[in-house]
Amino acid sequence: MTAAGRPGAAIAIDGLQFSYGSGPRVLDIPSLVIDRGSRVFLHGPSGCGKTTLLGLLAGVLHATNGSVRVLDRDMNAMSGGQRDAFRAEHIGYVFQQFNLIPYLSAYDNIALPCRLDAGRRARLGAVSIDAAIRDVAAQLDITALLHHSATALSVGQQQRVAAARALLASPELVICDEPTSSLDTDRRDAFLALLARSVAQANATLLFVSHDKSLGARFDVQLSLPSLNRATRLDAA
Ligand SMILES: Nc1ncnc2c1ncn2[C@@H]1O[C@H](COP(=O)(O)OP(=O)(O)O)[C@@H](O)[C@H]1O
Ligand SMILES: [Mg+2]
Repeated sequence: MTAAGRPGAAIAIDGLQFSYGSGPRVLDIPSLVIDRGSRVFLHGPSGCGKTTLLGLLAGVLHATNGSVRVLDRDMNAMSGGQRDAFRAEHIGYVFQQFNLIPYLSAYDNIALPCRLDAGRRARLGAVSIDAAIRDVAAQLDITALLHHSATALSVGQQQRVAAARALLASPELVICDEPTSSLDTDRRDAFLALLARSVAQANATLLFVSHDKSLGARFDVQLSLPSLNRATRLDAA
């Protein structure tokens, strides 16, 4: 059965190929299916295309060939605006570079997805945005930082603010791009525990990317990006 024939999967990829412009092929993945509710660890060396794959799943990038389905939606069939709205409502994304808005406070950065998207806000039900922010901030030990400007935060603090923003209102798919690389061991463990609790509570799917294979044992499924790619191409490209 092809990946496209797997309704209900969180992620279903068929014949995905991607290049940046006329550059070399970065990804060539014949098939990948990730079931809903699974916690997946994706590793691979720097430069192998992990962030690129996440960009395709989040609809920030567009496949050169092939099909990318996320939560049963065909990402190729959506307009740019539809992909933006889909991402805001359904996906919590911790970017490798955090992408915090520098002129906003930590609090306003965390609130942003819910303030910008009614679908995401509706996921809070009767809980106020303020109560939800205070809850996630307490769990990530950033309550005292909420009214600091994003630019006044250390790298590790920015990372936790970015995580709080991604987890607010329990999105169905949580994507983390090397989110623990700037954290000390205690904070890394607290962060991974919070992630596990949050995705379990929401029955969400977690796709966690790292070059640090030692974290893999904490996840249900471990994937290596180089082995997902068609064997013949990458280095020859
Ligand atoms: N915006 C871009 N334009 C052109 N090439 C890019 C761009 N972003 C990444 N690449 C190239 O694509 C490849 C995969 O990069 P990336 O997905 O960032 O890898 P990883 O996240 O595994 O370190 C690298 O060779 C990188 O140089
Ligand atoms: Mg990367």
